[in-house]
Amino acid sequence: MKRIGVIVGSTRPKRISKAIAAWVLAIAQDGSALTYELVDLADAALPILDEPEMAATGIYAHDHTKRWSALIAGFDGFVFVAPQYNWGYPAVLKNALDYLYAEWSGKPVGLVSFGTRGGVRCIDQLKTVVTGLHMRNTATNPALNMREHMFSEPGTFIDIARDLEEFAPAVRAMNAELIDLLDQPADAPE
Ligand SMILES: Cc1cc2nc3c(=O)[nH]c(=O)nc-3n(C[C@H](O)[C@H](O)[C@H](O)COP(=O)(O)O)c2cc1C
Repeated sequence: MKRIGVIVGSTRPKRISKAIAAWVLAIAQDGSALTYELVDLADAALPILDEPEMAATGIYAHDHTKRWSALIAGFDGFVFVAPQYNWGYPAVLKNALDYLYAEWSGKPVGLVSFGTRGGVRCIDQLKTVVTGLHMRNTATNPALNMREHMFSEPGTFIDIARDLEEFAPAVRAMNAELIDLLDQPADAPE
């Protein structure tokens, strides 16, 4: 059984990334033979990168890195769900990515971003980074527009399934591409 990690890419109080990641997971899991699991960066609680050696060496000094490595190594592919922060993506996600190398490398990844003006710039930056990690990115990477009327108060959706329904087809397309990539060997020509 192949396992997909759905990374919750922000950690601030009142964040909406966890609700969006759960919504993405439910859509992806629906009718799929794969296992999807939320990976919350808040739970990983990684300090700012404090490993003496570069991740590409695979030499890890700290228990938090070893735990993070074992968790990520257990997945066959990923969906990163990240808000757009100042035209980029959250520092906590870059930090979590930089901790490891082989654990990401070669694996398929779909990108879902969101923001008050969508998340296209976040996705552009993440595309560059996942390419640097030699991950295999889906062609479809949904960017979701958040609008004020979707929230009863900051951080709380009124009806997430209804309000994000327009983006569900793009999430399904991304997931189908992710499954296709999983079936292709990592070194297959693109
Ligand atoms: C530090 C910060 C920077 C932001 N920059 C952008 C931005 O560049 N473009 C955008 O559309 N929304 C931006 N927003 C709005 C966020 O996308 C929106 O608040 C979203 O809920 C943040 O995700 P989170 O709740 O998971 O932290 C920003 C929000 C924060 C907190």
